[in-house]
Amino acid sequence: MTELQRKDILGLEDMSADEISLILDTAQSMREIIDRPIKQVPTLRGRSVLSLFYESSTRTKISFDLACRYLSAGSVGVAKAGSSLDKGESLRDTVRNVEVMGPELVIMRHPSGGAPHYLAKNVDSAVINAGDGFHEHPTQGLLDMLTVRQRKGTLEGLKVAIVGDIFHSRVARSDIWGFSHMGSEVVISAPSTLIPPGIEETGCRVEPDVEAAVRDADVVCVLRLQLERQQQSFFPSVREYHAMYGIDARRLALAKPDALLMHPGPMNRGVEITSEIADGPQSIILDQVPNGVAVRMALLYLLLGGGE
Ligand code: CP
Repeated sequence: MTELQRKDILGLEDMSADEISLILDTAQSMREIIDRPIKQVPTLRGRSVLSLFYESSTRTKISFDLACRYLSAGSVGVAKAGSSLDKGESLRDTVRNVEVMGPELVIMRHPSGGAPHYLAKNVDSAVINAGDGFHEHPTQGLLDMLTVRQRKGTLEGLKVAIVGDIFHSRVARSDIWGFSHMGSEVVISAPSTLIPPGIEETGCRVEPDVEAAVRDADVVCVLRLQLERQQQSFFPSVREYHAMYGIDARRLALAKPDALLMHPGPMNRGVEITSEIADGPQSIILDQVPNGVAVRMALLYLLLGGGE
């Protein structure tokens, strides 16, 4: 496969292993540009990108902005504070306005699952989902796979343990679908209140015992406790959560000796992960970040036909 046969990137659920491999291979080439002293190439000069971030973001927003800059695409954007969403504008009206402005590609982060899908159905522009509610965060899933593939050479046959707030996590769903499509075994672990019913249908195995989940893992991916999304008490206290499910040096030592430790950020240090291991030799958390720029460059390039 040499080009993507799709207008939009909305999720990894329906993405084939061939498509994922094409994106990761393209992202690997983009890493070479990022690692140069002068990072800009003229590939997407004259192309227009609009970013709509209706939820907070540091990594995703900055990395899309840098991806546009490195490929010379013109980009404009709006965040929730400062957009007409604050004045009560409906998603439908936002979409109709985007449609008539006619950007070639729109990046959307939205608190409601399905919002980028609605946008994609109603505009001719390519749409990239930068995170929709609890649903998917496909670019995070792709950068996670790229980071692991760089270290392990393959994703096939790896045991990937995902530990944390699975219920509220769009990263969990994209990681489960992405790694499973690429032949990894995905095991998830969390208190039962943070495991969504039916999650096994996504292709993962649920292991309530966190130590059994991380035992012999090749990759331990820790997810943030999304306290801001929790309207009810999902566990007795943060201290208890840390004792029962927090990943520390003792639990990480149950994984393979060369296991990789990941976290999509932002981290709650001392809650789901200890600083000792987040900043330790097995951590690839800060490799995930530049790979996020590379993956987003690859998607802009592939969706905007940069090769033409
Ligand atoms: N990992 C991630 O999506 O981070 P941000 O919320 O900072 O974009």
